[in-house]
Amino acid sequence: MTTLIKGGTVVNATGATTADVLVDGETIVALLAPGSVALGADVEARCDRVIDATGKYVIPGGVDAHTHMELPFGGTNSSDTFETGTRAAAWGGTTSIIDFAVQRAGERVEQGLEAWHNKAASNCAVDYGFHQIIGGVDEFSLKAMETFVAEGITSYKLFMAYPGVFYSDDAQILRAMQKAADLGLMTMMHAENGPAIDALAEQLVERGKVDPYYHGIARAWQMEEEATHRAIMLADLTGAPLYVVHVSAKQAVEQLAWARDRGQNVFGETCPQYLYLSLEEQLGAPGFEGAKWVCSTPLRSREEGHQEAMWQGLRTNDLQMVSTDHCPFCFKEQKELGIGDFRSIPNGIGSIEHRMDLLYQGVVTGRLSLERWVELTSTTPARMFGLYGKKGVVAPGADADLVVYDPNGHTSIGFPTDADGNPTGRTHHMNMDHSAWEGFEIDGHVDTVLSRGTVLVDGGEYHGHPGHGEFLKRGLSQYLI
Ligand code: URP
Ligand code: ZN
Ligand code: ZN
Repeated sequence: MTTLIKGGTVVNATGATTADVLVDGETIVALLAPGSVALGADVEARCDRVIDATGKYVIPGGVDAHTHMELPFGGTNSSDTFETGTRAAAWGGTTSIIDFAVQRAGERVEQGLEAWHNKAASNCAVDYGFHQIIGGVDEFSLKAMETFVAEGITSYKLFMAYPGVFYSDDAQILRAMQKAADLGLMTMMHAENGPAIDALAEQLVERGKVDPYYHGIARAWQMEEEATHRAIMLADLTGAPLYVVHVSAKQAVEQLAWARDRGQNVFGETCPQYLYLSLEEQLGAPGFEGAKWVCSTPLRSREEGHQEAMWQGLRTNDLQMVSTDHCPFCFKEQKELGIGDFRSIPNGIGSIEHRMDLLYQGVVTGRLSLERWVELTSTTPARMFGLYGKKGVVAPGADADLVVYDPNGHTSIGFPTDADGNPTGRTHHMNMDHSAWEGFEIDGHVDTVLSRGTVLVDGGEYHGHPGHGEFLKRGLSQYLI
């Protein structure tokens, strides 16, 4: 099957140009300048399928490097399966995900990884890879790390938060980082001081402060700044490269900038929720409503300037990429587990479908260039996590993971109603009974999505299927040296 995507503006991290994109099978084979006869004047007539992208952008498919499908957490499981979550990803122009295989304390890493392969295999609509969560650093998990690279898993995550669940103490972090430095693995860190947060949370609940809002108070920015600094120093000592996940505090960005200025291999991601949503407006919504936005790190005060600091960090490259930390829970029966005690609200927000759109608003508002949009959502994730060349770029030889994005289109997020105010359905495809993004109006629209040359989404119709997505055996990060 040959496909020509014609007339669009091809946007890569390195620049934008008008070109036709020729796809043969699963691969991009040529970028043809307007009027080019390099492959014959009749190239369009010889193609099996022609997609008109005039007036639209043709970008590499999004790479979401932080997702949690079917994650057992907080006494329940995140509500998207690999099937539903990757379908939603496709709808939103994301054609690769990297999910977190889980080892909990007391379990073997190998079992956790096998379980994740079993959950994902034959179910994904888009390509998928894994990071490995190490929830119990001991002689067995340290030994298991030696096999990661051969398994195509070149990054792992540790938690300075969640004591009793995934938490690692400083000695465990030190040992894991020493090993990672030897092996060339990227250490991903959930940087929050878990024991201190748990003490603060207990004190709040004792004083009757049980609403979702207090989740954000207990997880104060000082807890994030302190842990980020500690992770940076342990990384410095061990020589391990460090990638801090879901950064939300402006003081944590300052720590990252400081470490990078010292020459350390330290990187940070933020997520759409930390760019747009806040402690006051969302977590502080009346009653129990704020539970929809309980996630960790938490939403932060707008007045304190954290959101602006995230945008600035993305512009100045103190933050290198945007992932979703997609970890959806339904409101009914899942978020509701925490009625009367915010500590029991499962932590997580679902955004996988909206990341490309939400970040495109940075272009619309003049905060990001078109190229930076692509870099943050596709190119850098691919380079950071060993996928670049196949993913993250529109170029001959790359996988034909392509999105035709209409800058003049429009996307509404939420639950539309008929003239009588009755709900008529929902605009998203994530398996959630609510949306953290309800009411958001997006300038721009994901029109067409191809994954390895196969059309998954076109003209508002879904053509994908479970099992199309393949496991991505990743190489080493390009950011190791
Ligand atoms: O609230 C969050 N972030 N839930 C997912 C688990 C994690 O810490 O990434
Ligand atoms: Zn985390
Ligand atoms: Zn996460």
